[in-house]
Amino acid sequence: MQPVRRDLSFPIDKKNILDWHPAGRQVGLFMNCMSILFPVGERFFISSVRNYQDDIRDPKLREAVRAFIGQEAMHGREHEIYNAALQEAGIPAEKMEAEVKGLLDFFRKHTPRSVQLSGTVALEHFTAILANQALSDARVVGGSKDPAMSAMWRWHALEETEHKAVAFDVYRAVEGNDLRAEAIRYAGQVLASVILFSKLADMYLRALRADPETKPFGSLRGWRQLGGFLLGRSPGVFRRAFREYLDYFRPGFHPWDHDNRAFLKEIDDFVAQLDQLPKAA
Ligand SMILES: [Fe+2]
Ligand SMILES: [Fe+2]
Repeated sequence: MQPVRRDLSFPIDKKNILDWHPAGRQVGLFMNCMSILFPVGERFFISSVRNYQDDIRDPKLREAVRAFIGQEAMHGREHEIYNAALQEAGIPAEKMEAEVKGLLDFFRKHTPRSVQLSGTVALEHFTAILANQALSDARVVGGSKDPAMSAMWRWHALEETEHKAVAFDVYRAVEGNDLRAEAIRYAGQVLASVILFSKLADMYLRALRADPETKPFGSLRGWRQLGGFLLGRSPGVFRRAFREYLDYFRPGFHPWDHDNRAFLKEIDDFVAQLDQLPKAA
């Protein structure tokens, strides 16, 4: 699987930025908090893979790394535009981004590159299993009143799927798969999960307080919608991704053990249709 860098832009409608998700405002707000994490997170992914660029011998993997960097840079660029709209709508996206950047800079400075890469591999697994949910159930990111928003999330999910094994393959190529390498990989997932969930929860509660319609703590209906979206039946994104999450801890695990290549067949048609998106107001 060779990922391809695509320079695409999505004319998202700023005025719907807090109210774009068909499952409700609080579900949209949760996705918006994920968006705030992406640009700084993806820059960290890029730098942690770049640390090893000169150590990668396999020309195919080198090419995949170049495309991975290109894809993540494009995602970061589009989510910056998204996050600027959130800031304009009153969500303190800039402050939250700066805090996450501070945290990631700490790891850049104070941990060895193997730990940084293991964090990236862990979070890439996380994005890959969520992307798989987004691609397999239209309720996750589809059906927005802003079609550009649904398209943007779908594009991100497709490319996260396309490059889901790149950071992992770099890790295997440079760190191997002995006991030490596996221990660092597992520890990276535990650490990344704890930090990600606590930061995401903190950001979400602050976003609820900042949105004039949900402040200060959201509504019962909104929490029910979010509960159903993440853990319940409709569609239960985290609940359904949980087994795939745990597969990470299986010895010998590889991201393509979850074979969802079939979704990638649609990429060219999907890209061809983007011209038909209405221009943003
Ligand atoms: Fe990405
Ligand atoms: Fe990624």
